[in-house]
Amino acid sequence: MSNKTIKLEITRQDGPEGQSYTEKFEIPYRPNMNVIGALMEIQRNPVNEGGKKVSPVIWESNCLEEVCGACSMVINGTPRQACSALIDQLGQPIKIEPMSTFPVTRDLSVNRERMFDALKKVKAWIPIDGTYDLGPGPRMAETKRQWAYELSKCMTCGVCLEACPNVNANSPFIGPAPLSQVRLFNAHPTGEMNKEERLEAIMGEGGITDCGNSQNCVQSCPKGIPLTTSIAALNRDTTVHSIKKFLGN
Ligand code: SF4
Ligand code: FES
Repeated sequence: MSNKTIKLEITRQDGPEGQSYTEKFEIPYRPNMNVIGALMEIQRNPVNEGGKKVSPVIWESNCLEEVCGACSMVINGTPRQACSALIDQLGQPIKIEPMSTFPVTRDLSVNRERMFDALKKVKAWIPIDGTYDLGPGPRMAETKRQWAYELSKCMTCGVCLEACPNVNANSPFIGPAPLSQVRLFNAHPTGEMNKEERLEAIMGEGGITDCGNSQNCVQSCPKGIPLTTSIAALNRDTTVHSIKKFLGN
């Protein structure tokens, strides 16, 4: 068996009100391991680099294939998914921190509620619930369907909010992901019925005017969602909406 090891430095916190601290671990190397695998190894044998038994590190994950969005954390300074972060491609010691935009619940687990609240605020859904079968919905032009499908890949991982300098505990800015979802649901032939309500929601406090155009979001999104294109399109839509309102249409 190889004597190779993996060194990790993990930012930990015992609870929402606790002080954060760094704990170092050294675990046996296995080829093709991802960061979740390394955290599972620590969970199996929670002993720190100094040989002291400690409480297992807490994190969230589910799908393990970059679909659920639960395993977001900051790895070597970059917010990303732990399940797709391969140990062999990371410099060591691997520094793992919780995302700073969201309150820590424990260790690497954070509360992403502000993002879900923002999705509620902008009505990021299509109101077609009913007690009977409504039949097939209206068709979407293929070109529109193609870009709308790209926006629908959002897994609410929160990485774009973490990467955005304007989303933080002191700012009400809803951030790139909820804005892009407004564009998605406004593009849908049925969702379009609530288009004006969604535009109104992003024209108020914490809305689109809080975007500082840093472009960090589009570079960070693991799903390659064209967030800045969405924000530019919404800038046009909100301007048109304002003019229409001004003219009383
Ligand atoms: S837009 Fe991308 S980075 Fe932002 S929450 Fe959705 S999947 Fe994550
Ligand atoms: S575990 Fe689902 S995205 Fe990583």
